[in-house]
Amino acid sequence: MDLKFDKEHVWHPYTSLSNPPEVYPVVGAEGCEIILEDGTRLVDGISSWWCVIHGYNHPALNEAILNQTKSFSHVMFGGLTHEPAISLTKKLLEIVPQGLNKVFYSDSGSVSVEVAIKMAIQYWQAQGHPEKKQLITIRGGYHGDTIGAMSVCDPISGMHSLFKGVVKEQIFSERPKCKLGKEWDDKFIHDLEVKIKRHQQDLAALILEPIVQGAGGMWFYSPMYLKRAKELCEQYDILLIIDEVATGFGRTGKMFACEWAGITPDIMCVGKGLTGGYMSLAATITTEQVAYGISTFMHGPTFMANPLACAVATKSLELLTSMDWQEKVLSIENILRVGLAPLASNKAVREARVLGAIGVVEMKETIDVAAFQKMAVSRGVWLRPFGNIVYIMPAYVISEEQLQKIISVIATLLDLDFFKKSTVSFV
Ligand SMILES: Cc1ncc(COP(=O)(O)O)c(C=O)c1O
Repeated sequence: MDLKFDKEHVWHPYTSLSNPPEVYPVVGAEGCEIILEDGTRLVDGISSWWCVIHGYNHPALNEAILNQTKSFSHVMFGGLTHEPAISLTKKLLEIVPQGLNKVFYSDSGSVSVEVAIKMAIQYWQAQGHPEKKQLITIRGGYHGDTIGAMSVCDPISGMHSLFKGVVKEQIFSERPKCKLGKEWDDKFIHDLEVKIKRHQQDLAALILEPIVQGAGGMWFYSPMYLKRAKELCEQYDILLIIDEVATGFGRTGKMFACEWAGITPDIMCVGKGLTGGYMSLAATITTEQVAYGISTFMHGPTFMANPLACAVATKSLELLTSMDWQEKVLSIENILRVGLAPLASNKAVREARVLGAIGVVEMKETIDVAAFQKMAVSRGVWLRPFGNIVYIMPAYVISEEQLQKIISVIATLLDLDFFKKSTVSFV
């Protein structure tokens, strides 16, 4: 592979082209393994940023795409429709929280968030409240890298200072202090309530990642916070947008993480695992009230409801709902709990936490990602820590042996010195 060319001309995520870090050349991927050019097989601990939920090179998913190419791979969605989009929508509506039944397809998680924000603003405009166009959210969130989505990411890790004057200034409440599993007290919602009350006239929506804040720090918080947040939205007449891009499709042990709180949001975003990680597709799903409350919704991506993506997504959902995914996620959770617990007592570790198929080890210091990855690759494992967090979010088909291998590499991180004192780093 021409890595020199790659280094000079191909931009990789969150990197500088002047001094790009090492990238590893991939020639294949199967099940939970990524295969490098030199034949090295890496057990993938993070399912390619959490989307390849059924593993790589899945025969049924391959077949779904190939079959669809035989009829057509793409047509515009303006004025046309097709079976892959209709089938996927039927399948999605079987599993999303009750009350959500209008689906808008787009290309990526970030765009699904842009769509959600626009829906909320257009909804209030149509209700005669054009002044309601601001968003409220919590610190420590991540919703994507487009300008609107960035505005509701954590201002520090989302680098708002770089885009000051361009990214809209939204209202931020503190990160929920009530950890998952800890006793609830209403004081934990106080800051959010005060801010919603203060800004209610201007607020279109509250946007939250449910229970798990992913790329903003893998932080798990109490479902009671979500439940109370939903009540506040109703009380103060603002919409609730739940971003399930990272948590949807079983990742936390429920099909959607908002089920932990027993709530239905007004608008929900899904992406990542929707296609089993095969193609970029996302959806913004809303209620009749919001959909019929908007006159003409002003959004229409070129690749909206791409038939290949819809076909593979339908198959991915069929695979998910026909397997005992809850059992599988629970067994991953149990292995992670037992495996990560001994690491928690290490003096370099701040906390180890597990929920569903998510295992997190939060260090006290920032991890040197390049050095850590080199070590992990030499031991046959693919992980990508960020900041002081190393985490596991594997495909649901991962074996116990593969998980143990990943856990042992994290244990090595603690034995050797892979920390650095400074710099912000990214997922
Ligand atoms: C919760 C959440 N929302 C939105 C996004 C953005 O998705 P995408 O990278 O597909 O644009 C991500 C990506 O990590 C995410 O975790």
